[in-house]
Amino acid sequence: MSHIVVTGGYGFVGSHLVTELLERGDRVTIFDFAKNTRDTSIDFDRYPNFRFVQGDVTDVTALEAAITPDVDMVFHLASVVGVNKYVEDPLRVVDVSVTGTRNVLELSHRRGARVVFTSTSEVYGKNPDTPWAEDDDRVLGSTRTARWSYSTSKAMAEHMVFAMHDTYGLPVTVVRFFNVYGPRQNPIFVISKSIHRILNGREPLLYDTGDQTRCFTYVDDAVAGTLLAAGSDAAVGEVFNIGSMTETTMRDAVDMAIKIANVDSVSSTTAFDTAERYGARYEDIPRRVPDSTKAQRELGWRLNVDLEEGLRRTIDWARANPWYLKS
Ligand SMILES: NC(=O)c1ccc[n+]([C@@H]2O[C@H](COP(=O)([O-])OP(=O)(O)OC[C@H]3O[C@@H](n4cnc5c(N)ncnc54)[C@H](O)[C@@H]3O)[C@@H](O)[C@H]2O)c1
Repeated sequence: MSHIVVTGGYGFVGSHLVTELLERGDRVTIFDFAKNTRDTSIDFDRYPNFRFVQGDVTDVTALEAAITPDVDMVFHLASVVGVNKYVEDPLRVVDVSVTGTRNVLELSHRRGARVVFTSTSEVYGKNPDTPWAEDDDRVLGSTRTARWSYSTSKAMAEHMVFAMHDTYGLPVTVVRFFNVYGPRQNPIFVISKSIHRILNGREPLLYDTGDQTRCFTYVDDAVAGTLLAAGSDAAVGEVFNIGSMTETTMRDAVDMAIKIANVDSVSSTTAFDTAERYGARYEDIPRRVPDSTKAQRELGWRLNVDLEEGLRRTIDWARANPWYLKS
């Protein structure tokens, strides 16, 4: 049995990852700000091999209580997530990503633990040449545009990851997720927010033209890719895109959610003007498409759940969880 630490383990992706780890019999410690008690299906305390350590990844002393000498592997997910947060509190975004990741990497090195770091498609910025392979360029806007704080801070964290690997031999792997969605996601992202609004009888928002594209990845597929990366010796020192390669416009995704949810009072969308709401602090990414063939080839990763099926599962879950719809 391995002892595994998951930072941000009570978050959206983290809670699905922790479920998988506990179910396969690992000993798991979550390190997070807060214990998510709203969803009774994630009552991890019923597992004898589960432990929760509360704290902030920017606080190395708190982290030391979680990443103890017997830890074999650390999945580092803790991060400030959500475009509204990148725009409203970029200082915190940068602190958690840069200071937090440095703490996790140094402590893991001291403890002899392997690390998997969850990064993001945002690191590629607005590079117009899609699909993006792992070593493609990063194309970003001005530092006066706060939304790039997340991309830049995650890229800084990746630089630290590779430097720790190259300089100290830390066994570490980066996975870059592309628009992950599914049950329990905070309803502030295009899929989760649309489902939340539709099931509450409100029209989903359509951001600007709705022609922006994303490659939506169901959470189980993201978790599977993360576990495959963690289990592969050849993945040490490597980075993998983990994302669907099917490009969908925001308009089509939202329309699909309306159709699948099939709520009588909701048949169209409400326009949302990002320039009016966020001003110059925001800039959208017109197309976001991964080349995920490296993960397919080297990890054996496959996308199992397409958008239609993933929407259906997420909508079914939301309907069965009234607490979520009230949140
Ligand atoms: N969901 C996506 O579409 C997506 C896409 C790309 C990358 N990612 C990455 O995947 C990871 C998980 O994302 P998520 O969607 O589950 O986000 P989330 O916001 O649901 O979860 C993040 C968790 O980290 C915790 N956390 C935040 N700051 C912390 C701190 N300073 N100290 C301790 N805990 C802290 C939060 O309490 C939360 O439980 C993140 O690293 C994110 O950057 C997610």
